[in-house]
Amino acid sequence: MNKVLPMFPQKLVIRPYGLSLSNEARAALKSQRPRCLWLTGLSGSGKSTLANALEVQLNQLGLHTFLLDGDNVRAGLCSDLGMSAQCRQENIRRMAEVARLMVDAGLIVIVAAISPFRADRDTARRLFAEGDFIEAYVSTSFEVCAQRDTKGLYRAALQGRIKDFTGVDSPYEAPLAAECEIDTQNLELDEACARLSAFLLNK
Ligand code: ADX
Repeated sequence: MNKVLPMFPQKLVIRPYGLSLSNEARAALKSQRPRCLWLTGLSGSGKSTLANALEVQLNQLGLHTFLLDGDNVRAGLCSDLGMSAQCRQENIRRMAEVARLMVDAGLIVIVAAISPFRADRDTARRLFAEGDFIEAYVSTSFEVCAQRDTKGLYRAALQGRIKDFTGVDSPYEAPLAAECEIDTQNLELDEACARLSAFLLNK
């Protein structure tokens, strides 16, 4: 069941404090270009599998990374959120803000979340400098995801046992201009990772 979002306080007067150390100085210590790779796609499309394999590969190349996976973040930071459109919007806002902080800290961040709404992904993109947000559409079809049904959620949703399920009674808005598309039906995991790391590392 969806939980209710807490009430937010009325407008506060807050002036951001200017930090002396620049993001460039933080990144320079790591000799890498911090960026955010944002994987969007249906539940069961392969986002987590891809993100996980990619993170291992990047780590082996000596790059400093972090993976924010929807299922994991929902166990902690976003455990107060359900699956209504409003809750998903807040979930994506929080993930994007955390990703932005990590990019500011010098990390290469991979986000794996359904993130079904175009507007929310566009809002996330606007937090980053031009070129530092790479949207990758994991375009596995509804039919294939429903057939895989690794968590049994498609079956439950199609039987009406769970509500607001993406692709069943909650929409998925596919990207119109993602930097990259990964079709897990036609690509091996290694190949898909290679494609994503090429984007990330500007190759
Ligand atoms: S998002 O829409 O807010 O981006 P997120 O990626 O964090 O979703 O979480 C999706 C995960 O929650 C899915 O992988 C699935 O395991 C689980 N889940 C539980 N209920 C639903 C639902 N109604 N719709 C989609 N995913 C669900």
